[in-house]
Amino acid sequence: MSSPAAPLIDLDSLELGLAAAPSTPAVALEDVAVGYGRTRVLSGLSLTVDRGELVGIVGPSGSGKSTLLRLLTAGADLHRGHVEVLGAPVGRRPPARVGYVPQLDNVDRTFPVSVLEVVLLGDAASSRRLPWFSRAERQRARELLDRLGLEGLHGRRLADLSGGQQQRAFVARALYRRSELLLLDEPTSGVDPTTRLDVLEVLAELHRAGLTVLLTTHDLNAVAAHLPRVVCLHGRITADGAPGAVLTPEVLEATYGGRMRVLHDGGRVVVVDATPSGLGPSAVRDGGPTGRWRRGEVAS
Ligand SMILES: Nc1ncnc2c1ncn2[C@@H]1O[C@H](COP(=O)(O)OP(=O)(O)O)[C@@H](O)[C@H]1O
Ligand SMILES: [Mg+2]
Repeated sequence: MSSPAAPLIDLDSLELGLAAAPSTPAVALEDVAVGYGRTRVLSGLSLTVDRGELVGIVGPSGSGKSTLLRLLTAGADLHRGHVEVLGAPVGRRPPARVGYVPQLDNVDRTFPVSVLEVVLLGDAASSRRLPWFSRAERQRARELLDRLGLEGLHGRRLADLSGGQQQRAFVARALYRRSELLLLDEPTSGVDPTTRLDVLEVLAELHRAGLTVLLTTHDLNAVAAHLPRVVCLHGRITADGAPGAVLTPEVLEATYGGRMRVLHDGGRVVVVDATPSGLGPSAVRDGGPTGRWRRGEVAS
């Protein structure tokens, strides 16, 4: 693993092609209700995410986190309201320049495709007629994989990568499409604590490079508490703000139905699941100082 000072990605040569500070927000929802068919999942959603923000969406299982991301990629049914992504209304087709990194649990990772193909095929559906790729396209995909720490793994089957490496392959795929907005569904679930820090460090670097990053997480202490902004969901938005303002007993009661307890440990707040199966020392140990992710911060 690289030292804390060494960046995982050389951002200068990533060729992200970010538009120069557009005035429209990255995401704008106005009184939105969304679901599947006639089933309503979320309602009364009004949310603005400015360009360049890094935002976490938290809530219990089934609260609509994935549905909110799907709404932004035209993968759920808009029942009412208005949705704009990167300045354009979301129609039936996924918007351009939006990279969606699926939850690993929902990907068929046994699909016989190489790591390089995962990246190249990220752009295939939107713009190409032919299912093969130029030398320049391959070169750019290879460079992205290398910068995400996947050098030497280009020809490997996706299925033979670790969870964290697969996450990075999907991030490379999103960057290959020159996405300005990255949507990641539970990018840190199913990976070990060290890999979780690696994934978060990659996202923090992309955020620093100017990308807008929206991720879902159920991990309040190790992930959400370190983000600049957290949106709590439970059928609606129950809170939206900095973690210190949002991770309160009142908000957690509204979001998780009283299952969570807030502990104060010196100057920091630690949320623990108060249901018997979740209450253990690991929940407390995982909370780091608020601010940034640092390697070695999470006790093993
Ligand atoms: N494709 C679908 N069709 C119908 N209902 C769905 C679909 N996907 C999710 N749901 C339902 O929508 C609700 C919210 O799910 P989801 O957005 O996946 O929540 P989360 O990601 O917070 O766990 C759940 O009740 C779930 O069963
Ligand atoms: Mg989900």
